[in-house]
Amino acid sequence: MSAYVHGYEPRETERLSDQAGTLVELLHGDTAYPTGARVLEAGCGVGAQTVTLAQRSPQARFTSVDISAESVEEARRRTAAYPNVEVRQGDILALEYEPASFDHLFVCFVLEHLARPAEALRTLMRLVKPGGSVTVIEGDHGSAYFHPDSSAAHEAIRCQVELQRRAGGDSEIGRQVQPLLVAAGLERASVSPRLVYVDPSRPDLADGFTRRTFTAMIEGVREPALAAGLIAPERFDEGVEALLRTTVFCYTFFKGVGYRPAA
Ligand SMILES: C[S@@+](CC[C@H](N)C(=O)[O-])C[C@H]1O[C@@H](n2cnc3c(N)ncnc32)[C@H](O)[C@@H]1O
Repeated sequence: MSAYVHGYEPRETERLSDQAGTLVELLHGDTAYPTGARVLEAGCGVGAQTVTLAQRSPQARFTSVDISAESVEEARRRTAAYPNVEVRQGDILALEYEPASFDHLFVCFVLEHLARPAEALRTLMRLVKPGGSVTVIEGDHGSAYFHPDSSAAHEAIRCQVELQRRAGGDSEIGRQVQPLLVAAGLERASVSPRLVYVDPSRPDLADGFTRRTFTAMIEGVREPALAAGLIAPERFDEGVEALLRTTVFCYTFFKGVGYRPAA
C-alpha cells in the first residue's frame, strides 16, 4: 500500500474515533444493510466505523479488513461485543475471497491513501455480487474554509495535502468520488455531499470536529512537514493556533453509492 500518512499512533486512533463519533448521523444516517447481507468493509482501521455499521445493521454480517496488524487488534477489541463482525488482517488489493462473495462493499477514508483508487475499487467490486452496492465515503481538504480566515492555517493544511500526495495519496479525493465509481465500472453512481458546519451555537461539533478531528489531523503532520522543509515551525504552529481559534468551520465529505452491473 502507499505509505499511510496519518500513521498508527494512539493519538491517531483517538482521532479516528472522535471523527467517527462526531459524524455518525451525517455520514451513516442513511446506511443500513438487510438481514443476512454479507458486507465487506475494506480498510476498517481501528474499527471506528465498524461499530456504527454493526449497530445500525445488527442482522447483517460484516467482514472488516485492514492491512495494519495493530489496527486489526484494536478493531477486534472494539467490536468484540458484536457477533456480526469478523475482523481480518489483509491487503484489500489482494484479498483471497471468491468473486461475488459479498452482497455489499463499504469503503470509508481509504481511497484517499491509495495510488490507484479506481483500480482498487474495480478489484474490490469483483468481490460483490452483481446488483450489490458499493459505498464510498471520502473527505476533501480543499473544501475546508473557516472564519476568521488565516493564510497560515491554509499553509499548514497544504502541508498535509502535499505529504499525502508524496505518499501516493490524494486528500482532495472527495470531489472525485462520482467519476471514480464510474471509472471502476459501477452503475447508477451517485454522490451526496455532506457538509459539516460548525459555529458557536454547536460547541459539541467545534470540539469533536474542528478541534479533535480536523485540527488534530493537521497537528499530526507537524514533524514530517518540518522534516520535509515544507514550512517553518513558527508558521505551522501559527496555522494550528489559527485553526483552533476559528469560530465557524466548514468541511465537506462526499458519500457515493454505485452498483455492480448485472453479469
Ligand atoms: C484513514 S484510515 C480509515 C479507517 C476506517 N475506515 C475509518 O474510517 O475510521 C485508512 C485505513 O486504510 C488502511 N489501508 C490502506 N491501504 C490498505 C490496503 N492496501 N489494505 C488494507 N488496508 C489498507 C490503513 O491501514 C488504515 O487503517
